[in-house]
Amino acid sequence: MSFYQRIRPLLFRLEPELAHGLLIRALKMGLMPAMRQINSPVLRVNLAGMMLPNPVGLAAGFDKNAETLAHIFKQGFGWVECGTVTPKPQIGNPKPRVLRLPEQEAIINRLGFNNEGMVAFIGRLIERQAMPKRAQGIVGSNIGKNKDSIDPNGDYVLGVKALYPYADYITINISSPNTQGLRDLQHDEQLHALLVSIEQTRQMMLAKGIESRPIFIKLAPDLDNEQKASIAKLALEMKVGGLMISNTTITRPDVYGLADHWMQSGGLSGKPLMSLSTQTLKDFYRLTEGKIALIGVGGIASAEDAYAKIRAGATAVQLYSALVYQGFGVVNRINIGLLQLLIRDGYANVIQAVGVDA
Ligand SMILES: Cc1cc2nc3c(=O)[nH]c(=O)nc-3n(C[C@H](O)[C@H](O)[C@H](O)COP(=O)(O)O)c2cc1C
Repeated sequence: MSFYQRIRPLLFRLEPELAHGLLIRALKMGLMPAMRQINSPVLRVNLAGMMLPNPVGLAAGFDKNAETLAHIFKQGFGWVECGTVTPKPQIGNPKPRVLRLPEQEAIINRLGFNNEGMVAFIGRLIERQAMPKRAQGIVGSNIGKNKDSIDPNGDYVLGVKALYPYADYITINISSPNTQGLRDLQHDEQLHALLVSIEQTRQMMLAKGIESRPIFIKLAPDLDNEQKASIAKLALEMKVGGLMISNTTITRPDVYGLADHWMQSGGLSGKPLMSLSTQTLKDFYRLTEGKIALIGVGGIASAEDAYAKIRAGATAVQLYSALVYQGFGVVNRINIGLLQLLIRDGYANVIQAVGVDA
């Protein structure tokens, strides 16, 4: 029995946010046992110009305030995304707002971008620059808008400007279901206006001599075919660095039957999201003809799941909910299993398997 399996019943007796807070604190203090680093040229990938030692990343929402950077890479991740951070600090929605569904290995959350704001976040990215090499790795910043913002595009522009010098990449989160109106930014005209503002900001940063950073857009798995087609077209036109597919779903895939909390409001993540988010990924791989880097997120709990995302079109993957049910050990299990699956099927590296099922 792994260390995590032993402590899980204790953690699950605690309210989810309290348990999460303890885990963040343990990571910050360097109390979590370090994992072996899986090194293989087969697992190495180039994601939008960034070299990842392996394709398995930490999804946004786990470390909203970039607090764990000194130690998180010791858990085996090939890359890490912090945030969502908003320009101003905000407390988020009333509690309870995170619910576990253990039988489904799922989570429903309606946090609403609780975070300490941009100033604290950037301070930690600056501290990271002085950290030892072992703590270095690709770190992305996921940005959002404040709940009370009257200028959503302005919030994203501010985020890009502020973070450009410090983040390895930036994710524009327009798909969390818990901030009213946020997902509307995925609509054709609004998305076009947002992407134009972001591109102008990026050009401004480049003119100042700041190194170019990939910009990813994080999408919902709940888009209809028309929306998917128009987003793909815009992403190609505006040459976005990548599409992250997907955030949590507001649907409740009924294959899993009735569970406690099933009909609670919020975004559903974990195993019941796997099939929907992988289908959405596949659709985007076809629509973008493999010309844009895609990142597969949603329901990954095993090497087979990660492999399915890659075969559906993902260059790299991310996970969150599986950490709650399996602990950090899942990261190395996925990498080792993925290595075996790629070798079994005759692929020399991850890239050769990208999109073969799409
Ligand atoms: C508690 C919780 C908080 C999250 N917060 C964020 C967030 O702040 N920003 C974001 O882009 N995604 C957030 N997500 C979504 C995850 O990044 C991911 O897209 C989603 O959970 C699907 O992956 P999973 O099934 O591996 O968890 C959150 C997910 C959970 C469970």
